[in-house]
Amino acid sequence: MPEVSVRLADAADRPVVTRLWLMFRHDLSEFDEGLPDADGTFYADRPNVVLTDTDWAVYLMTIDARPAGLAFVRGLTGPKRVLNSFFVVRGARRAGVGLNAVQQVIARHQGPWEIAFQDANVGAVRFWRRVAREIAGDAWIEERRPVSHRPDLPPDVWISFDPS
Ligand SMILES: CC(C)(COP(=O)(O)OP(=O)(O)OC[C@H]1O[C@@H](n2cnc3c(N)ncnc32)[C@H](O)[C@@H]1OP(=O)(O)O)[C@@H](O)C(=O)NCCC(=O)NCCS
Repeated sequence: MPEVSVRLADAADRPVVTRLWLMFRHDLSEFDEGLPDADGTFYADRPNVVLTDTDWAVYLMTIDARPAGLAFVRGLTGPKRVLNSFFVVRGARRAGVGLNAVQQVIARHQGPWEIAFQDANVGAVRFWRRVAREIAGDAWIEERRPVSHRPDLPPDVWISFDPS
């Protein structure tokens, strides 16, 4: 497995975070049928917002100092950590990078965790169940919840566990 490093991103990382975010959102647009905005981006303000909000943490994954993925965590000031966005670049997939990186991210924050994804994203379904098993054994739950403000979409799948 390539060795993946995970570090907290800051304002200086905005360009690389913004590009990885675009790749991530493009991958996910397959499942919500979203087209890009007029300038070819998706929700382009999100990296700016999360990089400056104290309730959020942005992590950058690198392999040999090159970008390999990102993770957005929210809920730092609340009762639950939520893994809001998680992405591994295509050239590094199915090599254990995601599993290793998510364990590093989760180890940095105490408390219960929740992760949302879509049933249609078959790779993510397999990945997150594997993550839950690796981190929590049998002590995790999976449930479906409506997507807020999007009654047109099927419910999201949520996995919850508490590694602490
Ligand atoms: C989902 C994602 C993060 C997985 O990253 P990855 O680095 O390829 O995952 P890993 O190599 O660590 O996979 C660990 C295990 O998860 C499962 N898994 C991961 N991707 C899978 C896929 N596409 N199909 C089936 N199982 C998969 C497998 O059990 C895998 O172990 P194996 O390769 O030994 O069989 C990556 O495919 C991705 O970024 N996808 C696009 C964005 C996305 O869907 N993010 C998650 C929703 S928020």
